[in-house]
Amino acid sequence: VFFGANPGKLANKTVVVTAGGTREAIDPVRYIGNHSSGKTGYAIAQAAVNQGAHVILITTVDRPAPALVTVKHVVSALDMLAALKDVYAQADVVVMAAAVADYRLSQPAEQKMKKTSKTSGLHLDLVQNPDILAQLGQMKTHQFLVGFAAETQDVLTNASKKLQQKRLDLLVANDVSQPGLGFATTNNVVTLLEPGKKPKTLPEQSKTAIARELIDLISERLG
Ligand code: CTP
Ligand code: CA
Repeated sequence: VFFGANPGKLANKTVVVTAGGTREAIDPVRYIGNHSSGKTGYAIAQAAVNQGAHVILITTVDRPAPALVTVKHVVSALDMLAALKDVYAQADVVVMAAAVADYRLSQPAEQKMKKTSKTSGLHLDLVQNPDILAQLGQMKTHQFLVGFAAETQDVLTNASKKLQQKRLDLLVANDVSQPGLGFATTNNVVTLLEPGKKPKTLPEQSKTAIARELIDLISERLG
């Protein structure tokens, strides 16, 4: 107990954050992945801890987690879905900052795949991963659900569709067609979408500063 200290805007709240790109196995040594660095998710976890939240970070990346954060390591989209289901009932907020692969192999090879004849190609048979956020949206009881959308065109149209279809409370959209912004960068420009509200674009700032703003907004909405 810290007498006199500010308990933080998210004291007594459980915030679940996902971070990083999922890895979908091809065989025991290879995977399909993406360029997500996990920076945004880790920054959000840190900002939430700073506001006194109990933070559960479900991550695919190996970077050191902020102090006081409960970390669960996962690899694939299916692992991430299972980890989220385990903690969903106790979550007040879920921030889905992970870059979830849309597809996985229908049947990963059990043994390391061998090259076949010299020049023939290779076809991988992919099936769609479940939409984790959409499932959480369907299962929602009291949770405040936050999604992200990286778009290269029609940012607002695409983002507002995702806000509705996934039943989100907040969607953080960014235009990754802008050079120097988006994946693995320090700074970002994001537009915040909330049901029934006008989209709001924040000025270019560091992912750390954006995380702080998001956590402020979320704590305001939790009341
Ligand atoms: N997401 C998810 N499960 C998936 C795919 C995405 O939970 N299988 C989440 C992401 O973590 C993100 C949000 O949904 O918070 C939007 O992801 P995005 O890839 O932009 O949207 P998709 O619905 O996958 O649509 P598309 O890739 O076709 O634009
Ligand atoms: Ca996608």
